Amino acid sequence: MSFRFPDSFLWGGAVAANQVEGSHVSDGKGLSTSDAQPIGAFGHPVERVEGDFNIKDVAIDFYNRYPEDIALFAEMGFTTLRLSIAWTRIFPNGNDAEPNEAGLAYYDKILDELEKHGITPLVTLSHYEMPLSLANKLNGWASRDVISMFEKYARTVFERYGHRVKYWLTFNEINVTIHQPFTGAGLPVDVDEQTRYQAIHHQLVASAKAVKACHELIPDAKIGNMLLGAILYPFTCHPNDMMKTLEQNREWLMFGDIQVRGYYPTYMTRKFKEMGIAIDITEDDKELLKETVDFVSFSYYMSGCASADPANAEEANANMLNMVANPHLEASEWGWQIDPVGLRYILNFLYDRYQLPLFIVENGLGAKDVVNEQGEIEDDYRIQYLNDHLYQVGEAIQDGVDVMGYTSWGPIDLISASTAQMSKRYGYIYVDRDDEGNGTLERKRKKSFSWYQSVIASKGEVL
Ligand code: BG6
Repeated sequence: MSFRFPDSFLWGGAVAANQVEGSHVSDGKGLSTSDAQPIGAFGHPVERVEGDFNIKDVAIDFYNRYPEDIALFAEMGFTTLRLSIAWTRIFPNGNDAEPNEAGLAYYDKILDELEKHGITPLVTLSHYEMPLSLANKLNGWASRDVISMFEKYARTVFERYGHRVKYWLTFNEINVTIHQPFTGAGLPVDVDEQTRYQAIHHQLVASAKAVKACHELIPDAKIGNMLLGAILYPFTCHPNDMMKTLEQNREWLMFGDIQVRGYYPTYMTRKFKEMGIAIDITEDDKELLKETVDFVSFSYYMSGCASADPANAEEANANMLNMVANPHLEASEWGWQIDPVGLRYILNFLYDRYQLPLFIVENGLGAKDVVNEQGEIEDDYRIQYLNDHLYQVGEAIQDGVDVMGYTSWGPIDLISASTAQMSKRYGYIYVDRDDEGNGTLERKRKKSFSWYQSVIASKGEVL
């Protein structure tokens, strides 16, 4: 494309602690909800039995191998890395009186390494995990007490790292608590709607408290929210499909509306009434929600359709995001529909709605890679996917959307969140490990490695 992305645009990749680090109980770390889901976020939590296999216990051993991995990111030209802090490394049980110094020191070392390579950190406070003991004892975010525990954790890391971390995110894909109650929010899998929305309210208040604390403690930092950008199109232009699409998009936009505008949107009043639930929202909560984010971040993997026709309901109910398949799109091996233009669409859509800078903090293709006889990985399908999506980001910037940056998901192969598979690979860097945990953990550059390097070096001109 003849267009060059702005000089200030941040280029990089995104990872999450529980999907890369491993060392799940090292240096005083406590167990998290993720540690209790050995078959991934789509699986029910289990009691951990000593000796049982959980691929995340080692993951890709980023805990020990981070210098090599960060050097490879730097070689690609990354100017940013999105990573998360495991709450359980800092407060192993969630409510400990003092933070765990060994856990704090670990992230010091990561930040040193990033600084050495001139890579700007973008840190998520909570990425699909929370202390397991809070889930077990308090039903996670169902308890209002968790708000102050999270605030203490947030303040602790802002104080420790605030002099060098200037970009923060509160909860990863906060809207997923609607669909997956345990993973990020520690709720029982069969939670009732009243409890679920009360827990969501607690998370939203905690997010606002983190925003407030960040502004107080690190005045020159920016803090954003993080949405799973599951944009839906109407399946047909039937007015009922239009209305259904509006309603279904509001299921995830509600989170952004509150975090950006500072209050519950009026459409929720009717929804809560129809659901027969009443949320306990105190006057203090209302004040706190006014602490709004500085930018909006989101993940984007696919789009889908909404339909009012009951004939399509079965298909929609069969997947986590209640999407009807779009007949004009192809899908990945995991059924995720590939829609590059949808990224331009959602960028424009969110910018029209919020008028805040946007950050694409996840996008990518999960695919099975093959190492050929020459020992190379020719992942042209991944290059195609990423190229087509980044091209559309360029289009959106030219549309006038303020885009801060792009961090593709899993720049190095990691453990899938939904299915805990190693074989669902996203990386520019291959990791020698299989779903059963066999392999040397050796790192290898894929074909997409040099492709992304050239994209960053040319500021998008080669797209
Ligand atoms: C996002 C999550 O939903 O999608 C990541 O924030 C996750 O944690 C990513 O890994 C891709 O999903 P999956 O299930 O393929 O790992």
